[in-house]
Amino acid sequence: MPKKTWTSSRIRETFLKYFGENGHKLMPSSSLVPHNDPTVFLTTAGMQQMVPFFLGMETPPALRMTSSQKCFRTVDIDEVGDARHLTFFEMLGNFSVGDYFKRGAITFAWDLLTKVYGLEPERLYPSVYPADDEAITLWGEIAGIPADRITRLEDNWWDRGPTTPGPCGPDSEIYYDRGEQYGCGRPTCAPGCDCDRYLEIWNLVFMQYNQDGQGNKEPLKKQNIDTGMGLERLSMILQKKETVFETDLFLPIIKKFAQIAGTTYGKDLKADTSLRVIADHGRALVFLAGDGVLPSNEGRGYIFRRVLRRAVRHGKLLGLDRPFLGEAADTVIELMEGQYPELRTNRDRIVDVLTLEERKFGQTLTTGLHLLGEKLADLERAGQHELPGADAFALYDTHGFPLELTLEVAQEHGMTVNEADFKAAMGRQRQQSKTKHGLADEREDELWTHLTATLPPTGFTGYTTTQGTSRVVALVAESQPQEMITAPETTPVPLEPTSAPLLAVLLAETPFYAESGGQVGDQGVLRSPTGTFQVVDTQRPAGGLIVHLGQMTEGYLKIGSEVQAQVDETRRDATRRNHSATHLLHRALKDLLGESVVQQGSLVEPHRLRFDFNHPRPLTPAEVEQIDQAVNEWIRHNFPVNTALTPLDEAKRSGAMALFGEKYPDPVRVVTMGTSKELCGGTHVAATGQIGVYVTTQEISSAAGIRRIEALTGQAAATYLMGRKHLVDALASRLQTSPDMLEQRVAQLAADLTSARKELDRAQRESFRDEAARLAAAATPVRGSSVVAASVIAPSNEALLEMNDRIRERLGPAVILLATKTVEGGATFVVTVSPELTSQGWHAGKIAQRVAERLGGKGGGRPESARGGSRSAAHLAEIVAEVPEMVATLS
Ligand code: SER
Repeated sequence: MPKKTWTSSRIRETFLKYFGENGHKLMPSSSLVPHNDPTVFLTTAGMQQMVPFFLGMETPPALRMTSSQKCFRTVDIDEVGDARHLTFFEMLGNFSVGDYFKRGAITFAWDLLTKVYGLEPERLYPSVYPADDEAITLWGEIAGIPADRITRLEDNWWDRGPTTPGPCGPDSEIYYDRGEQYGCGRPTCAPGCDCDRYLEIWNLVFMQYNQDGQGNKEPLKKQNIDTGMGLERLSMILQKKETVFETDLFLPIIKKFAQIAGTTYGKDLKADTSLRVIADHGRALVFLAGDGVLPSNEGRGYIFRRVLRRAVRHGKLLGLDRPFLGEAADTVIELMEGQYPELRTNRDRIVDVLTLEERKFGQTLTTGLHLLGEKLADLERAGQHELPGADAFALYDTHGFPLELTLEVAQEHGMTVNEADFKAAMGRQRQQSKTKHGLADEREDELWTHLTATLPPTGFTGYTTTQGTSRVVALVAESQPQEMITAPETTPVPLEPTSAPLLAVLLAETPFYAESGGQVGDQGVLRSPTGTFQVVDTQRPAGGLIVHLGQMTEGYLKIGSEVQAQVDETRRDATRRNHSATHLLHRALKDLLGESVVQQGSLVEPHRLRFDFNHPRPLTPAEVEQIDQAVNEWIRHNFPVNTALTPLDEAKRSGAMALFGEKYPDPVRVVTMGTSKELCGGTHVAATGQIGVYVTTQEISSAAGIRRIEALTGQAAATYLMGRKHLVDALASRLQTSPDMLEQRVAQLAADLTSARKELDRAQRESFRDEAARLAAAATPVRGSSVVAASVIAPSNEALLEMNDRIRERLGPAVILLATKTVEGGATFVVTVSPELTSQGWHAGKIAQRVAERLGGKGGGRPESARGGSRSAAHLAEIVAEVPEMVATLS
């Protein structure tokens, strides 16, 4: 019987069958997009779907399981192109949840490798975690491998990343010796060496611990097994190939790309490397797109974009100037659909996503590479080694050329890039581009006129629902209709979210409410299998068209795309509450202040409402309270909110409140709740009880004769009121009383304060009087006049002047200078000269100037009165003591 060849399908089937026969339940591969696991962007190992079982958080479907899992890892992306590294790969695994442990795992692995796959035992080399003597003993017992053939490796410890929380433990790897000819020849060459001799094929992880990602780990309740073997590497060995790319998993893909590029694999090392990169990346992208990953500027979408860009760049090295990934997608799908049928189901989308992104990036790349090449050549000629940040930024900003490519190309030229300047330029640009993106300018007017003429009015379904499926009927970017809109191409630089202009999407019908009647437009999301559009606002720019404004956050939308529209319900609910409360407020104001009260403006947002009305004077606190009470009573009454389309005439006759000058459609929508009846197109609660609570937070003037009320409802009102309650409690406790007694206590404190102030004043005056008498008595006679100069204690210049008056009362013609130290540590002083002395040449301003000079400060003023001061009060007493003498010389 001819020996069967080990095709990769047979290798995979054999693995799953072997473990199936040994009591393992076959688990389907989970998606590359992890389910409910925010710790990783993409599935990186077969154990990922086992994490909740290992942690004891969920019950596993069986204690023994096996799978062939689609995996994606970015860690090795730069190595791709050599013999054995890949981004996307298939991991064959067997798992035990608290069932068998080390002995079982080693026994199965050894048996399968040597007896089933027929690998020569002498070519297999295990490695273990340095402290794991148990594993060494087991390898001896089970496989007869002596301890000296087992390498102890520090990195035989497995976790999903040192900072990723989850299960972890020591592991034992199995290496295959490809032969001396692949070795590096170093005496230390052994499993774990990075040359091509020992190829790691299987990793047996003894999952015993759980780590928190911050350096702490604790033992798990049960001991588990998680193993992973790379299908590509095992195929390379069993098919006796030099690299994984020559196995049946890759060769057809390599050939396809070689054919597209008009070359042959195996001719030229450099071209071969590029072909391998494209084969790996192309295959990975097909799987990513197949699992719904779309290019974007964040998370897994950004990984997609980076991988695609690398592939396109290598395509360029092969001379490929047109999209080629989409073209080869069918080859990948044909090869893999047997195991992964979702590829066939999603075939069209995969090809679309790849081709579109490739086309976009291809143009960017051509222009960017050309400009960058010229720039680098200039710098080289000038003997420089660094590309200025401004140039890298211009490439990015004007041509969408990503920074990481600039870095890569610069490096190939032996140059660096000034990244700090690049980031600074980016920051500046972000600041400048924060402009308003309204719908107002002329070009827009033309656009909307055109769209209104060509499209039927948008159906609005939002009165009864907040979601629905519809079709894209028009797309707008930069004020121009588009066939397609896509997520932005530029690479994110980790600074802040982009401020790109808004795009517009029009659907045949939508649950999104467009801003009108004071109610803000809805926000939410439009999702299609090809892309996601985040709606930040909804407007009605013209006629009956409802326009969703926002950004593509991933992928693309085309005319005709079917989308699932989802309004942000929490925001809409809060807005509805405020809108219905506005109607009740309007009614309550009319009831209280008279029918002449008319709405002058209204704003209904999710977090508050604002209502302007005509009234000649502010409302009293009692009136505000009455309004609050009336509205809350109606809320508690839980009136149903009824809406009816009524002929306009009839509606007006029935007394429904209509706004003067407003154009209403006919028939018009009439909204009734209790005694409130208004013409209104807005969205409302079903019954007033849903408003919860209403509270006026402000009553202010908005313009002459116009008052403005701001109010909250629902949760926001409750939070506000609780905040007030806490404030009152805190104040009461601060003032050592109960909230009920707070007012009385504050009144008491105010009275105490007033009398304390009076007492202080009286005491101060008394002390001034005494001090004044003392100083007057101590005056120095200078040519028949008195000179008083003293440093005293006084709280201010005013107090100094008062004391000055007190002294003067007791003296005839006098020159008086009073100084004091300030709390800041400086000095301040006042000088007065009796009017009859000024004619003799004494001048208060000059005295002040002279004293200030001595103090190192400033001073001056009029002949009768002046003041001065300095920052320092050093030598104040001394200087003051010199004043009489100084005055004598000045006259
Ligand atoms: N989780 C381990 C690995 O990824 C074994 O499956 O290598």
